[in-house]
Amino acid sequence: MEADDPVEPPAAFRDRANVATDVRERFATAWPEAWDAAGDLLDWFEPYDAVLDWDGEGPPFRWFAGGRLNASHECLDRHLAERKNRLALRWEGRLGETRAYTYLDLHREVNAFAAALRELGVEADDVVTLYMPVVPELVVAMLACARLGAPHNVVFAGFSADALTTRMERADSAFLVTCDGYYRRGDAMNQKRRADRARMALDYDLRATVVVERLGGARLGPDQHDYDALVERHAGATVDPVPRDAGDTLFQMYTSGTTGTPKSVAHTTGGYLAHVAWTSRAVLDVKPEDTYWCTADIGWITGHSYVVYGPLALGTTTVLYEGTPDHPERDRVWEIVERNAVDTFYTAPTAIRSFVKWGEQHPEAHDLSSLRLLGTVGEPIDPSAWRWYHEHIGGGECPVVDTWWQTETGAILVSTLPGVDAMKPGSAGPPLPGIDAAVLRPDGSECDPGETGLLAIRSPWPGMPRELAHATDWGRAAAGEEWCYLAGDEAVADEDGYITVLGRADDVINVSGRRVGTAEVESAVVAVEGVAEAAVIGVDHPTRGTAVHAYVSPEVDRAADDSLRESVLAAVEAAIGPLASPEQVVFTPELPKTRSGKIMRRLLEAVANGEEYGDTSALRNPEVVGELEVRREGVSDE
Ligand code: PRX
Repeated sequence: MEADDPVEPPAAFRDRANVATDVRERFATAWPEAWDAAGDLLDWFEPYDAVLDWDGEGPPFRWFAGGRLNASHECLDRHLAERKNRLALRWEGRLGETRAYTYLDLHREVNAFAAALRELGVEADDVVTLYMPVVPELVVAMLACARLGAPHNVVFAGFSADALTTRMERADSAFLVTCDGYYRRGDAMNQKRRADRARMALDYDLRATVVVERLGGARLGPDQHDYDALVERHAGATVDPVPRDAGDTLFQMYTSGTTGTPKSVAHTTGGYLAHVAWTSRAVLDVKPEDTYWCTADIGWITGHSYVVYGPLALGTTTVLYEGTPDHPERDRVWEIVERNAVDTFYTAPTAIRSFVKWGEQHPEAHDLSSLRLLGTVGEPIDPSAWRWYHEHIGGGECPVVDTWWQTETGAILVSTLPGVDAMKPGSAGPPLPGIDAAVLRPDGSECDPGETGLLAIRSPWPGMPRELAHATDWGRAAAGEEWCYLAGDEAVADEDGYITVLGRADDVINVSGRRVGTAEVESAVVAVEGVAEAAVIGVDHPTRGTAVHAYVSPEVDRAADDSLRESVLAAVEAAIGPLASPEQVVFTPELPKTRSGKIMRRLLEAVANGEEYGDTSALRNPEVVGELEVRREGVSDE
């Protein structure tokens, strides 16, 4: 993907931007002390002794060492003096319902729920799992956990019961807050049944379950509590925010990695929150008087950082959206922007590609003049979609920030600064000030401009996860002799240092901006009776970016028929959830393998994407490749 000609930031935006043009210089001359700018955005119970405490070489990295704070206090209490009656949350429900919470309302409900959780036995450092759709109670529960110093473990509501069990067991979590159900498009989905199945499969007993009523009529078992009843009973309670060390865990979550099991990522209270607040201010240009809307589901890192913690830490109004962009109509998103006079809109390329496909008549039917800034995250965006977004949504007047980051990085690391940097459609931009991102060769040396390599971060950053800060085996990546974090992405930098991220370089695929581990899907598929072997790959898709395809080789006496296909799909849905369901299941008597027996996934990817795959003579079974091409065509004609 080639980046387009640069687009200069509009002067009107620059004049009001939160960051000034000398910000890069400041970080370049005083690193890491310049990160004080992020620490200063927080209100510390105990000031930190050093911005970064380390030996100058490698881990451990202790950001804001000595500082103590509480994230619930940062997002609520400290705003009460000046803006208790300003809206903290505006919720847009799937059926067209709306709810609004002022900072005072949210503070009260978080206190009441924190008191309830404490009564149920939750103490500092207990992990509380939250398995809920995007409803205000999810934000309340996150902040109530933070108030108690209890790390939350949010599991995306679309994950299956099995996926929930794994994520609870791995986190050793004995408390669950869930919901009776939610609506997908117009249909009611029973979430409590899934939560109950997960609970029964756990190899220990839960200490308490709280159920939020969204659909109504759920029957509660022993040790299950109704959220509303708890909050009502504890109305008026106050729970002092528990002071936490900067390095203490604020939350953990699981993401897909390169192995068959999800990878745990724990974020810190001080470094994470400071980094998220600073980037919300500098990159998303959030101002307290704004209405800000990031469309991400709270179940993923984007929702944690830029729906909840970043905007609330800065005291702005954050919009929560439960629905899908085309329900009930394809102008739903623009109707919400107009009605709420949204200033900043932050979404994913997969949504933008759908908007392009549906046509500009939908945004044109609405007054979008409140918008000041647009953002994108989660996947590479091609220059034509970027330009469409810039022109048809931003009216050519709003900067578009293409923000690169990951679950592991916690917050944005690569992006243009709006009002400061020129934008190059298709390229995320330069590393943010204070971030040492580079494109490296496998030996650790830096690639020349235009040369594709691996994206790496060579110096610590405040939002780094605990696993990296303490350099347990996970994620510590050595390139040459130097400490650095390899992000797992392929990228290229240009002469100006702008980084274009090309996609994953490992066995993680990005489906509609959501991470799916091919190894996780494969382990579900090979567990199906009658399946001998399977290889799961990502194949280019016009709106989703990448789609999951499964190449399945049945056992010799098992017919490759629709019932086997159904079993494969059902197994993936049960193990992970519909988000990982293969769009195509291609049966083949054999998978292409090297002479040493390794499945050649890259070759399968090339075949499926209709790309050149070169010489197959190193394969043990080269004849299978021609066969696969025929099968692929047969399937895509269906
Ligand atoms: O491949 C990159 C892609 O999304 C991956 C991270 O996924 P996840 O941990 O789920 O976090 C998603 C939201 C931050 C990255 O390794 N990615 C993210 N942002 C961009 C991107 N690819 C290209 N351009 C981006 N702006």
